[in-house]
Amino acid sequence: MTTSPLLAIQGLRAAYGKIEALKGVDVAINAGEIVALIGANGAGKSTLMMTIFGKPRARAGQILYEGRDITDVPTHEIAHLRIAQSPEGRRIFPRMSVAENLQMGADATECTEAEREATLQRVFTLFPRLKERYDQRGGTLSGGEQQMLAIGRALMSRPRLLLLDEPSLGLAPLIARQIFDAIRTLNRQDGLTVLIVEQNANHALKLAHRGYVMVNGLITLAGTGAELLQRPEIRAAYLEGGRHG
Ligand SMILES: Nc1ncnc2c1ncn2[C@@H]1O[C@H](COP(=O)(O)OP(=O)(O)OP(=O)(O)O)[C@@H](O)[C@H]1O
Ligand SMILES: [Mg+2]
Repeated sequence: MTTSPLLAIQGLRAAYGKIEALKGVDVAINAGEIVALIGANGAGKSTLMMTIFGKPRARAGQILYEGRDITDVPTHEIAHLRIAQSPEGRRIFPRMSVAENLQMGADATECTEAEREATLQRVFTLFPRLKERYDQRGGTLSGGEQQMLAIGRALMSRPRLLLLDEPSLGLAPLIARQIFDAIRTLNRQDGLTVLIVEQNANHALKLAHRGYVMVNGLITLAGTGAELLQRPEIRAAYLEGGRHG
């Protein structure tokens, strides 16, 4: 049995020109975990996810995946490592059908026809709406359906590690709950490891086994989801009296 994390990020720095977005970040994700990353606007959460995919490139530090240094692996090869992401703002292909969007996900990695079909059926079980809308153009889906499609597309590449950037953003509470339920199901039934970025700290920390708080390009707090939910500074900053509850 291995004790090293599935993903270990150590001393990671990244910048956009002179803007330092990550200033030395340490994050570890164990196989089978859901880990939440929370923090205010501009903290660097999306940058952390994108740096795993090499855009932007790390300026310092290391990203280890299954013990292997993937810091300099080209972006297009990351999917072959069975890492997938659903980026902020969904970014599905609006002119393509649901079917074609899902096929794009499947094309990111090699799989047999039987594997592709089984994965598609799994996505339909999680998100029956996508089956109903199979031939419809992505751009005509509702916001919640587009989020389901973005996650479904990521799943079609059959990842071991799924990175989700603000999956509940802009969604009605009922739809957001469906998304969170699907993530929990994928983790429990399929053993999928998940890193989830969320401004909805309450939901994310209830869903996650562990969480990290990012402030201004640095991790300032880490703990189990339950621990972080109890912390006064978390409650004050992210949970009480506002849109994050
Ligand atoms: N393409 C870019 N060019 C220049 N600066 C950028 C770019 N993307 C992000 N930044 C800056 O990097 C910092 C971190 O941004 P990032 O998008 O990672 O934050 P975030 O935590 O995801 O915020 P949010 O919760 O608003 O999505 C911010 O100061 C932002 O202005
Ligand atoms: Mg972001």
